[in-house]
Amino acid sequence: MKKRIVIANWKLYVDSPKAAAKFLDGLRKTARTCKGVEAWIAAPFPFVSALKNQTIKIGAQTVSVYENGAHTGEVSATMLKNIGAKFVIVGHSERREFESNEVVREQLSRALGAGLTAVLCAGEREREASGAHFTYIEEQIRSACLSLPHPSRLVVAYEPVSAIGKSAEDAMRPAELREMAIFVKKVLSDALGRAAAERVPILYGGSVEPSNAKELMEEGGVAGFLVGHASAELDSFVEILKALRRTRSK
Ligand code: PGA
Repeated sequence: MKKRIVIANWKLYVDSPKAAAKFLDGLRKTARTCKGVEAWIAAPFPFVSALKNQTIKIGAQTVSVYENGAHTGEVSATMLKNIGAKFVIVGHSERREFESNEVVREQLSRALGAGLTAVLCAGEREREASGAHFTYIEEQIRSACLSLPHPSRLVVAYEPVSAIGKSAEDAMRPAELREMAIFVKKVLSDALGRAAAERVPILYGGSVEPSNAKELMEEGGVAGFLVGHASAELDSFVEILKALRRTRSK
């Protein structure tokens, strides 16, 4: 069975070092019983180094386009690497509000160049009958992948914006997700070459909850999930991992 990846995207939900450490502790216990499913945590910057861990990959939610210099408030990819982060999310829709495709490309390239795994998010704001959303996603992925260093450390998270932050009934239908996963794979194949694209795990994000995780995984043709609100509490995140233990992939 292929490895599945489930990433807790904590956003601003988990806000104290104590709560973060307690979550990690509980997650490590469950992760041991979920063979074939890898759990990662995308933490707010202040918790990344404290959570450093052997079994669970700890990463950040964004990264600077700059490597060093006079840039107040920025956190570089090298800094993240140096404090033990294993990965970083780039291009999340909540950041694309003020980050262009060019900025995302630079962040991706910095992250991979520093030795991190990069989770590139892409997703349309609206699905349009004309099919314009396909072009929109293609543009997001193609532009990010231009002259990409180390594509072997790339993960793509497809996240339709209209499905984010709602509830299980509002998540994408598994059959539609399957179609989008094939499309994303094709775009990656055009951008990186078939062999490199085959190795890129494609995740889904957008109202993944314990009740829909199994079906989305079995029918959606993805390698895992990027989970937002259902990762704010350990119990619901753990239920998602457990649901995947019992899945078959098509
Ligand atoms: P959600 O968020 O699970 O709350 O929909 C997913 C994401 O934004 O990564």
